[in-house]
Amino acid sequence: MPWESKQIHFVGGTGARLRDMDGNEYLDLFSKFGANILGHNDPRYNVRLADALTGAAAVNLGVNEVEAAEMIRAFVPSAEMVRFSLSGTEAVLNALRLARAYTGKSRFIRFFTHYHGNADSLLGGRVGNLDYPLPEAFDGDFTDTDGKARGTTEEAFLLPWNDLPTLDRVLSAYSDQIAAVLTEPICINGGGVMPNDGYLEGMRRLCNAHGVVLIFDEVITGFRVGLGGAQALFGVLPDLTTLGKAMAGGALPVSAIAGRREIMNLYNARKIVHGGTFNGYALGMAAIRATLEILSADDGRCYDRMAAHMRRIHDAFLRAAARHGLDFEMKGLDTAAVFHFRSGPDEAKKLPMISQYAVKLTSEAMAETGILVSNMNRFYGSIAVDDDDVALFEERIDDVFQIVAPFVEKMRGPKPTMTSPSRAVAAGGAQ
Ligand SMILES: Cc1ncc(COP(=O)(O)O)c(C=O)c1O
Repeated sequence: MPWESKQIHFVGGTGARLRDMDGNEYLDLFSKFGANILGHNDPRYNVRLADALTGAAAVNLGVNEVEAAEMIRAFVPSAEMVRFSLSGTEAVLNALRLARAYTGKSRFIRFFTHYHGNADSLLGGRVGNLDYPLPEAFDGDFTDTDGKARGTTEEAFLLPWNDLPTLDRVLSAYSDQIAAVLTEPICINGGGVMPNDGYLEGMRRLCNAHGVVLIFDEVITGFRVGLGGAQALFGVLPDLTTLGKAMAGGALPVSAIAGRREIMNLYNARKIVHGGTFNGYALGMAAIRATLEILSADDGRCYDRMAAHMRRIHDAFLRAAARHGLDFEMKGLDTAAVFHFRSGPDEAKKLPMISQYAVKLTSEAMAETGILVSNMNRFYGSIAVDDDDVALFEERIDDVFQIVAPFVEKMRGPKPTMTSPSRAVAAGGAQ
């Protein structure tokens, strides 16, 4: 960034607004990486958590767990049985272990730009030039990290997403080795990319044909894009689903694996370890119950309201960008969207650099202006977003592009040189 990023220390919040220690107010479209679907300080949620701490729920652990699992079963179409853990990472690792135990095979397929958690075996994988047989282990995935134990990504094949012929080719060649296909059903982490028509159906068909477990990682999409997650939107049922983030309202960490009885029953046969001191902890279960009760009240109409408010915010964002000569687009869904900078074909060569810069700059300028978005370019709304929040966004967004536009303009020139945004702000009159 051409300026030093400001450290923000939040001290409180209500609805879709947060307050920092200097008394500044922010519109929260970051929602803790999408987890905070209820917004902040929802009294219905707080009361339920307080009851759980002081009342029967704290000791009545088993009942709470069963009721939370029953609610998930009621909403998530493929959930016949459910088990709980704490983080999305754990849920994904457990789902892979389950798939291996069920199929007696060890490898799995995952996809470029998808993210499944902070574990060595989930960061990186084996790739090729798509002329299989597969090459040596590769460590160049964008989610890669230093410090991994050697060989931990050996079992993962990294493929391009939305490419059914390649998946078909690899599954056909290696079906005797592959236990699972692991995918975000909407690739939010890779930029809000929707599955092509028929892609998820094709995946389902290929997994059936090759005896491979299909895992939908709905840690982001679950209870965010609707009560039934992406699988309900597309009508394609995975064998296993991983859930986390929004499921417990964002204040408490809880994740889950949900799936087909035949596979999940391996746990009951005591063939698979599912360790975790706090698995199914009472407060987390109470948080799931409270969240799902709030989200499902009134036939889940809060999702329509959230989508409508967020659509108005996205429209205002795109309109403001256009007013300043910038060509942004929004991908994904109203409830989980990602913005990208798009430009004309004459700029194609410079586009990746300009695009990354514009996105980063825009996110930072938004924070400067009092609007928080997630992980650079994602808009995660909450059901707390209301008309006043939309109005606040509309009021402030021009200031953002007043800061961003001159910098992007310079990037487009032959020799980009940066001046400090504070000067740009002073000249442009932004706050
Ligand atoms: C799709 C997806 N799966 C899994 C994870 C990992 O979840 P956690 O950070 O709770 O371990 C994430 C986290 O962002 C995610 O986006």
